Amino acid sequence: MRALLLALLLTAPALAQGELRGHGGPVRAIALTPDGREAITGSFDSSAIVWTLERGTARAILRAHDGAVNAVGVTPNGFATAGEDGRLAIWNRTDLTRPLSIEKIHTAPIAALTLSPDGTSIATASWDSSLAVTPLNGGAPRRYEGHQGNVNGVGFMPDGTTLVSAGYDATLRIWPLQGAPRIIKLDAPLNALSIAADGRMAAGGADGSLFLLDAQGNNLRRIEAAESPIIALAFSPDSTRVATASPRGSVTLFETGSGKPLFTLNGPGLPVWSLAFSPDGKILFTGGSDRLVRRWSTLNGDHLGPIVIEKPTEMFVSDGSRGAEVFKACAVCHTLTPDAENRAGPTLYGVIGRRIGTAPGYVYSAGFAAQDIVWTKETIAKLFELGPSTYTPGTKMPEQKVGSEEGRAALADFIEKAARPR
Ligand code: HEC
Repeated sequence: MRALLLALLLTAPALAQGELRGHGGPVRAIALTPDGREAITGSFDSSAIVWTLERGTARAILRAHDGAVNAVGVTPNGFATAGEDGRLAIWNRTDLTRPLSIEKIHTAPIAALTLSPDGTSIATASWDSSLAVTPLNGGAPRRYEGHQGNVNGVGFMPDGTTLVSAGYDATLRIWPLQGAPRIIKLDAPLNALSIAADGRMAAGGADGSLFLLDAQGNNLRRIEAAESPIIALAFSPDSTRVATASPRGSVTLFETGSGKPLFTLNGPGLPVWSLAFSPDGKILFTGGSDRLVRRWSTLNGDHLGPIVIEKPTEMFVSDGSRGAEVFKACAVCHTLTPDAENRAGPTLYGVIGRRIGTAPGYVYSAGFAAQDIVWTKETIAKLFELGPSTYTPGTKMPEQKVGSEEGRAALADFIEKAARPR
């Protein structure tokens, strides 16, 4: 089965085209750092990935959740992830191998999360019908109950204390710090919520409606935005536009003021599950079923390409050998050159004769680096005969095997040659 998986990886057309797929499942959530240099994505494959956008490479794979990662966010010191397991994980950017904390906050999947404007807490919306605001420095979550069903969206008003939520019970609720929430009944079950920097709100309906509200919560207009449910929404940083995504339909940008559609994205990677604008508002990032994160111009909707686009020749120079063929599946995560940035895995430059866990500048999982292994042609062959989870327990390298002894030997020969220090 695992050998088959590897065989599939080897023959995946994506690799031939040089499009790298960091995620093994649809990209469910995406958020950018305020400087626009990094993105974090969450996936149905139960991992999150931190991407360096300039180079288009995966900087780290974050694994802590049992089940899909439905929601991601950026915190002052790192990242937050939450998902199907009802848990919220807080990650410090200096060590992304394990979360700083991971707590079960909800008894059902978490569908959305957002950072408070003062950067001190995370609000989560859950299918257990509740919301919670959890302080980043520890401390008990504050709970907000009242929705009659799944809560799918959460946001803070610009004042930083008023919480807003959107639920499948077709209500939008505005929760002041004290007292009862104001309940706004809309005409459709709600799947998504976005709050603009100026306090305007947008909610996405299960019937494809886009609801636009002003900062006081007055329902301004209802737009027939799509023919299928709206599953993601995002305001542009300057609040003038809102992007909507629906699973059967497409991604459309609307003008906030008039509610007029500006354009619909046209290109690969649809349908889309997640949306985020770059901090300067010029680029729209989408995450979709094709497991890629793509960029689009917000000027005209042109497809600018996936985040990770490196030509196979840039990935590594194949010498046409059997071992190079096998290595194609590894090149997604490993470079063979000293100057190339570490991908999801460490560079393998000079790996032969190197102690496990010692590539400069790479953050290994603790269990992996603590083992007593020196990499030789034999130990590398062993690694993919037994599989990383057996040979190096506790590793974050995904489980994979190279089925034939001949394939393993060819792989080891290729690595020895291609990664030899020059
Ligand atoms: C999806 C990403 C991914 C793929 C594909 C992958 N690896 Fe890895 N690899 C990693 C990660 C992550 C680590 C670091 C493990 C840790 O810290 O737990 C690693 C570690 C290693 C190490 C140890 C390096 C060191 O410095 O100790 C070797 C050797 C290695 N991988 C070889 C391979 C080979 C050969 C293949 C292809 C057959 C491969 N890997 C495929 C992610 C990957």
